[in-house]
Amino acid sequence: MDSNQSAPIKKVAISTGGGDAPGLNAVIRAAALSAIARGWELYGIRDGFHGLLLPEEYPDGGLIHLTRERVSGITHLGGTILGTTNRNNPMRYPIIGPDGKIEEVDRTDELVRAFRLHHIDALITVGGDGSLAIASVLSRKGLRLISVPKTIDNDLDKTDVTFGFDTAVGFATEALDRLHSTAASHGRVMVVEVMGRYAGWIALHSGVAGSADVILIPEKPYDINKVVEKIRERDTRGNKFTIVVVAEGAAPLGGAISVVEKEAGKAERLGGVGEKVAAEIHEISGKETRVVVLGHLLRGGSPTALDRLTALRFGAAAVRGLEQGEGGVMVALEAQNVKYVPIEEAMGKMKMVPMDSDTVTTAIDLGISFG
Ligand code: F6P
Repeated sequence: MDSNQSAPIKKVAISTGGGDAPGLNAVIRAAALSAIARGWELYGIRDGFHGLLLPEEYPDGGLIHLTRERVSGITHLGGTILGTTNRNNPMRYPIIGPDGKIEEVDRTDELVRAFRLHHIDALITVGGDGSLAIASVLSRKGLRLISVPKTIDNDLDKTDVTFGFDTAVGFATEALDRLHSTAASHGRVMVVEVMGRYAGWIALHSGVAGSADVILIPEKPYDINKVVEKIRERDTRGNKFTIVVVAEGAAPLGGAISVVEKEAGKAERLGGVGEKVAAEIHEISGKETRVVVLGHLLRGGSPTALDRLTALRFGAAAVRGLEQGEGGVMVALEAQNVKYVPIEEAMGKMKMVPMDSDTVTTAIDLGISFG
């Protein structure tokens, strides 16, 4: 691979890494068609970078030629035709050491050599914060690359939005719509736990759009007594049911977030706060309470039109950027326009919900409680 950002390009690779998000296939299609239009070839790496690190595990050698036919009819498909992983980070690749214990090794040099071996001139990485960190190292090692941001959580800095978020919010909103009638019929409290990791974007947007009564997000530690106050206030007004949306990363005042699994060297898995909130509501108020955890349903299914459009724009912009000599940058959206920001500026920072934002203010005006 040539680190000269203006050398002619013939062959480009693309990888999708981290948790999947609706819209990944749209990025792949847009990048492939934009590359073909320039007379370039696009190759997809299987399962993040795995296809290049362990080609013997794949009957196709770990690289897929993304021809016009191969990317036909995939814009509307959820997931990624390339496969993805949030394990086996090439910077900290787990291997079994001589003493039989798992140890981590840096395989990024090997990866750079694999790109050279395959005569790949440039790389497009599609992923979240973890993928940006890998891209930054590969870029410093001389790879010509552009990153495309992805996450349903919408928590990546330096871009107004990431694709997958709109689909997740749409699904959560529909779930809230459906829960209203059953909650009202039974006069129950329904607690709905949504993903979002350490940010409350999905909970906030779906909660407002889906007419929740309480929204609990990581940006504001909650007081369970305030949640119960809201339930009682509704009861007094004759609304015997209450819908509570809780982000998986929400935590009580002075308390910790709920973690399902914490393994050394891996991102912790969040979950369980819905059960906790429901149990406390029941204990304090005596109300019948049920919990729904939307979990990975938020990541599946067909991307919305908005997510497809953002993803297609990002995929095409990645190829255009490479053509224009950009490198070591992430495609971003600012005020509806695509731009390129240095990867180092975008990585490692989380975009949290600003508590003085218009959406939060709107929620408060609507009488929604943040606990
Ligand atoms: O980052 C996307 C996300 O879906 C988070 O909202 C969630 O916490 C996490 O990934 C779940 O990861 P996994 O797919 O490893 O369960």
